[in-house]
Amino acid sequence: MAKASARFTCQKCGAIHRKWVGQCESCGAWNSVSEESAPAAVPKGLSGGKGRKIVFESLDGKTEQKPRWVSGIGEFDRTCGGGLVPGCAILVGGDPGIGKSTLLLQVVGQLAAKTRCVYVSGEESVDQVRLRAARLGLSNADVALASETSVRDLVTTLDTADPPGVVVIDSIQTMYVDSVDSAPGTVSQVRTSAQELIRLAKARGFSLFLVGHVTKEGAIAGPRVLEHMVDTVLYFEGDRGHQFRILRAIKNRFGPTDEIGVFEMTGGGLSEVENPSTLFLSQRQTDLSGAAVFAGIEGSRPLLVEIQALVAESTQATPRRAVVGWDSGRLAMILAVLEARCGMSLAGHEVYLNVAGGLRINEPAADLAVAAALISAVADNPAPADAVIFGEIGLSGEIRPVGQSDLRIKEAAKLGFRKSIQPAGTASGGKPDGGPLAITKISHLRDLVAAIAPHAPTPVAASSRGRR
Ligand code: TYD
Ligand code: MG
Repeated sequence: MAKASARFTCQKCGAIHRKWVGQCESCGAWNSVSEESAPAAVPKGLSGGKGRKIVFESLDGKTEQKPRWVSGIGEFDRTCGGGLVPGCAILVGGDPGIGKSTLLLQVVGQLAAKTRCVYVSGEESVDQVRLRAARLGLSNADVALASETSVRDLVTTLDTADPPGVVVIDSIQTMYVDSVDSAPGTVSQVRTSAQELIRLAKARGFSLFLVGHVTKEGAIAGPRVLEHMVDTVLYFEGDRGHQFRILRAIKNRFGPTDEIGVFEMTGGGLSEVENPSTLFLSQRQTDLSGAAVFAGIEGSRPLLVEIQALVAESTQATPRRAVVGWDSGRLAMILAVLEARCGMSLAGHEVYLNVAGGLRINEPAADLAVAAALISAVADNPAPADAVIFGEIGLSGEIRPVGQSDLRIKEAAKLGFRKSIQPAGTASGGKPDGGPLAITKISHLRDLVAAIAPHAPTPVAASSRGRR
């Protein structure tokens, strides 16, 4: 039987179990439950007497609005909703080695000119942080460094009448509270440490960054249980094989979500990419089959990316489908629609789909561009090189309109595209011609097949070859 003072916590979702189990009943994760000591005093309801009466306030009361801290790194400021709100807590999550420490050191390096900044590293020594700062050209920035892991010492140091403006804790998994009896990095340590630091940030009005390592599955303890405690959650993502890094706002109490910032990892740190469409299309070869340009929207900004597909005959009973940068369930749906509504069967083929440049797309508007890349790969016929494509595909093969088509078309025109293939029902701000772009409106997936693979036999897949 479990000891009275022990409990078993899922390191993924934070659920508490009475005994050890191999699979968490709450989130279904395997091998995520480990033993932690329970808090010393278990609260016993409200038996200890009456509390204090709360005085309610009205919505129209006066609140002193402090200006936001703007770092000057445009991509970062925009992702945060226009700079840092004093007293806010921001969780910066991402895979180990993706560049979180580098980004935050650059941010405090810039902010140091405006306010006092503190950078606490629990992972690196002060010398290591200095070396990195030298590499980033920030040696002269007035940032206070410390290599510390005790939350008690940190709170004592920061709880002053003249607190710093910005504090970075790198990372929350290395911090510990000495009254909690489990190892740093466990759910109870991460949660308690974050709670103490966030409480202090709100009380003293400094902006707090918490760095949290997280794998794609969220397997390492912490960040997932922190998401509801902080004001803003930023995820730093990207393929380590590529130099592009994307900072994505997942939650923001002080600004829009879905906003992204695009960076490039260089020898001298992260540099901003102000026109990401140019960058994502820079490697494009226009005469190949199996590629289509998607006119997407990320947050408030249009973004053009190339979608590549490869279709190859397979000898296996269940041919492989591999997707990088998109949802594999959505690919399966489009393959099914192509088969059921357009007679294009890919059942005996391996299908590979890739979003060029390491970007991850979540928009359903990419459906039509994905379908175009697939049809082009199957028919071995290049999709129109000077066209951008966007639109959502319904299960009966109908093409549904998507939002912000004007913005997409404008970006495409800016980058020299001449055509746009888009849903029939799209309202384009009263200008049906879409300005300099020739617009082809389609209402069914069959129209797209006819446009890209006009001479393909049905089923088209019979003699298919893919890209390259
Ligand atoms: P880092 O910020 O330490 O990642 P994290 O804090 O998310 O674990 O980034 C480490 C990677 O970035 C490492 O692989 C080296 C690379 N890097 C550069 O390419 N250029 C640079 O100027 C710096 C500082 C790091
Ligand atoms: Mg780091």
